Amino acid sequence: MSAWRGQVVVVSGASLGIGAEVARTLAAEGARLVLAARDAARLDEIAAACRTAGAEVEVVAGDVTGEAHCRVLVDRAIQRFGRLDTLICNAGQAMWARADEVTDWGVFERLMRVNYLSAVYCTLAALPHLRASQGRVVVVSSLAGKTGVPMRTGYAAAKAALGGFFDSLRIELMGSGVSVTIVCPGFVGTGSRARNLGADGLPLGRSPVNEAAMMTVAECTRQLLDAAEHRDRELVMTSKARLGMWLKLLMPALVDRMASQAMARGR
Ligand SMILES: NC(=O)c1ccc[n+]([C@@H]2O[C@H](COP(=O)([O-])OP(=O)(O)OC[C@H]3O[C@@H](n4cnc5c(N)ncnc54)[C@H](OP(=O)(O)O)[C@@H]3O)[C@@H](O)[C@H]2O)c1
Repeated sequence: MSAWRGQVVVVSGASLGIGAEVARTLAAEGARLVLAARDAARLDEIAAACRTAGAEVEVVAGDVTGEAHCRVLVDRAIQRFGRLDTLICNAGQAMWARADEVTDWGVFERLMRVNYLSAVYCTLAALPHLRASQGRVVVVSSLAGKTGVPMRTGYAAAKAALGGFFDSLRIELMGSGVSVTIVCPGFVGTGSRARNLGADGLPLGRSPVNEAAMMTVAECTRQLLDAAEHRDRELVMTSKARLGMWLKLLMPALVDRMASQAMARGR
């Protein structure tokens, strides 16, 4: 039987990409779901697919960068299902512009809100319930949170902040039974680059790279849920990236060049 059967899981950023695939996969595994994102219509489509797979689903549309909405999200999970077993903080957005070309400096604050503060607020709201269930927090960071990446300064900073918060929280939660898993994908073919913020603070509108050449969203989801199920402390996706983490200790300039080349290739 699947480890997720009957588990109550909140997924932020469930209207698209990795979050939507995580929701569909968990639905097929028998989880009970609370799905969050801003686009209510798109969220309803994902929820319908999950219900078709047999899942009970609560949809909570709204912006997770707001503290109050994160409290509402968790409250709705408790009202509907009476418990919370896993929180997956997946909502996020990236940038695609050199720092010295950014004209709308508000980009840096928005990236910090959506990638960092949303996860902090959702987790703080969920913690009492996760303590009660000895549950899991799963945070979707990025390789950009592990090492510098050109064109992504504000995004890398926000994802690195996640590491600081959640590595520390994990220690505070020692002995509580609540696990913290930080997931660091590389390039995943979700089409999200089209939604990356450009130098003018607006979404690019089209991906500047070949999304088809990237890790599939299905593979990313499989690895993410496996790490969550086993309560791994961190998942760095791809063996090349894991090698890069070791190399960074010895030859950080080489890793900088690898990051530069990876961005030039788009994967
Ligand atoms: N794809 C990659 O290559 C990749 C690599 C490394 C890490 N990641 C991380 O993986 C996560 C998912 O990425 P993805 O590629 O699946 O992105 P995506 O396809 O653009 O989906 C992002 C999701 O986040 C939601 N979201 C964005 N801003 C929000 C807000 N303010 N409030 C609530 N929901 C919000 C979006 O829904 P609405 O627009 O409806 O709100 C959408 O459901 C992100 O944290 C991303 O940084 C992705």
